[in-house]
Amino acid sequence: MSQSFNEQQVVQTLRWRDGRLEMIDQRVLPAKFEYLPFGSAAGVAEGIRAMVVRGAPAIGCAAAYGIALEAAALRDATREAFCDGMEVGFDVLAASRPTAVNLFWSLKRMRALWIAIKHLAIAEIIDQLLAQAHEISAEDVRINHAMGNHGAALLPDGARVLTHCNAGALATAGHGTALGVIRSAVQAGKRISVIADETRPFLQGARLTAWEMVQENIPVTLITDNMAGHLMSRGEVDAVVVGTDRVAANGDVANKIGTYMVAVLAQRHGIPFYVACPLSTIDLTVPDGAAIPIEERPAEEVTGFRQCQWAANGVAVRNPAFDVTPAELVTALITEKGVVTRPNRKSIGDLFVS
Ligand code: MRU
Repeated sequence: MSQSFNEQQVVQTLRWRDGRLEMIDQRVLPAKFEYLPFGSAAGVAEGIRAMVVRGAPAIGCAAAYGIALEAAALRDATREAFCDGMEVGFDVLAASRPTAVNLFWSLKRMRALWIAIKHLAIAEIIDQLLAQAHEISAEDVRINHAMGNHGAALLPDGARVLTHCNAGALATAGHGTALGVIRSAVQAGKRISVIADETRPFLQGARLTAWEMVQENIPVTLITDNMAGHLMSRGEVDAVVVGTDRVAANGDVANKIGTYMVAVLAQRHGIPFYVACPLSTIDLTVPDGAAIPIEERPAEEVTGFRQCQWAANGVAVRNPAFDVTPAELVTALITEKGVVTRPNRKSIGDLFVS
């Protein structure tokens, strides 16, 4: 398959061009819209770590391409060097970011294929790994549309929907999870408007969610994170829809730092709090939210932005990139298999019984 899986999409977060992976550089949006090329597992891992690509499903898709690229880069190696190089590729990608479980889900899937086809000719291995990377991305888009259709039914016509971070096309292979629900509701003819939390410190809401909505003429209002409670108290928010990086077996939800605060506020004001969550984001090996690894990012993201520093040199800083919302604050999980209201260990387990 030489064509990208998503030639028709408006926002192609990842695309396959001339034997390389190209990804929109999300660090510079919306000031600049440009693609960066990647040709190895280490390159993709660095792109994930540096947040060229971010968002749980997009990270998983990128990692799958990283494995396919590594195989292609090792095309002329001896079989022993090829096998050793592949193992290094898996390790370097797994070490890129710790919280989004889609990364490990995707690598596990690529590894299962790699183990099964290891004995084949190297050219055949490369083709099969690339085909699976394309399929993981294509499947992500299909899943997002399925979640979108389930979630759209939850939003009344005219709903003002608050979202946190970016769980849109940019965070996935296309359509988005939380923004996919909003897009599907709009496509179903509902008049939806979006309230985008700025999302300190990396500004995914201000830079990415607002940009995506503006591209499609979906009404969007940008607020700073500390304005959400005020708007809720004035009756200006009808629903919250967010994405997630990892859901524990009991339904606790890890998502972008600040999500927990939004969930507490939503409960206080009787506003439904929905989490758009593909099954690939549920981690049954983790019993509850306390066991989800939370990434700590560099202090510079908090003391300033790009070239501008506003905090004193030497100040102590914390920068946890995610927080955990307890399951009891979640009105429903929106999955590709349907809506799970008041998620708990039993209802989450049932999702995996076919
Ligand atoms: O640090 P980021 O930008 O990768 O964090 C992304 C989020 O927290 C998203 O809400 C989550 O990955 C869901 S994306 C569909």
